[in-house]
Amino acid sequence: MAQQLKDRFQRQFYYLRLSVTDVCNFKCQYCLPDGYHPNGRRSFLTLAEIERVVAAFAACGTNKIRLTGGEPSMRRDFTDIIAATASHPDIDIVATTTNGYRLKDNAQAWRDAGLSRINVSIDSLDPRQFALITGQDRFRSVMEGIDAAFTAGFDKVKVNTVLLKSLNSHEIGGFLEWIRTRPIQLRFIELMQTGEMDKFFQRYHQSGQAIKQQLIEQGWQLRERSENDGPAQVFYHPDYLGEIGLILPYESGFCLSCNRLRISALGKLHLCLFGEGGIDLRDLLQQDAQQAQLIAQIQSSLQQKAQTHYLHEGNTGATPHLASIGG
Ligand code: 5AD
Ligand code: SF4
Repeated sequence: MAQQLKDRFQRQFYYLRLSVTDVCNFKCQYCLPDGYHPNGRRSFLTLAEIERVVAAFAACGTNKIRLTGGEPSMRRDFTDIIAATASHPDIDIVATTTNGYRLKDNAQAWRDAGLSRINVSIDSLDPRQFALITGQDRFRSVMEGIDAAFTAGFDKVKVNTVLLKSLNSHEIGGFLEWIRTRPIQLRFIELMQTGEMDKFFQRYHQSGQAIKQQLIEQGWQLRERSENDGPAQVFYHPDYLGEIGLILPYESGFCLSCNRLRISALGKLHLCLFGEGGIDLRDLLQQDAQQAQLIAQIQSSLQQKAQTHYLHEGNTGATPHLASIGG
């Protein structure tokens, strides 16, 4: 094995988020409020290029890959991408994050192709509010998608909910009730400021600290973190089948446990969600014989990774919205 990926701050990277497309058919108000608009002709990573990314990262100790977008299932060959990623002997976990639009019809095929984990974004349990936030009147079909995932054999589903003041902040009780009887890990994510969003952030950002206090007062307990867990603080409760995850990027120390790197759909390495414009690896993805060079480039780029993001200072880096880099 090539050297394990490690940065100057002794953080090790086992987890890659690999974006396979920027395209999305939703218009989440905090992400693509006007919908996706192609910016010239973009050619996203081919299946062969994706396989080379996977092989290089696996050779450096990566064992978990999350396929992201945009909306990853907008790719017609998404099932093949899952299969190719899952077939690598050193990749133990293949996950995806989806808006759920294609989940109902594809959960079984994705499972059969080797997908091990699934995250679905649901910002409201009220169909009208869901449509208002996402621009898609699709609440019921997304919920059916979750049912389909359980039927297909996923024993747990994660749901991402971005906390939005006045848009869904009054629904916390309803969300908790929802997971009382379902093996869902519901993750409340604090809205992060991105380059194309300013007023929206000022108006709708809501800290998750009050929810954390509320959970603790109600007897929820914090679970210990393991090596390739994400940044969520996970809480469990004896009366609930589901769990709550809190993702609080504005809490100090959030970056200390960073264990992930990102590759954009155009083949750029992003060291942080809110970092520079990305290091272009595409030239090194053209032939299997370039693998050693590709690994050397990733290893050396990683030495530039900063200790933390600067979101606290309102510095969002070069990221216009999260659809461009996979969340
Ligand atoms: N802040 C927080 N979460 C966001 N997401 C997209 N944009 C933002 C943002 N600005 C979430 C989506 C999805 C996940 C990939 O990231 O809702 O669940
Ligand atoms: Fe699409 Fe996800 Fe962005 Fe919503 S947050 S517009 S589902 S990429």
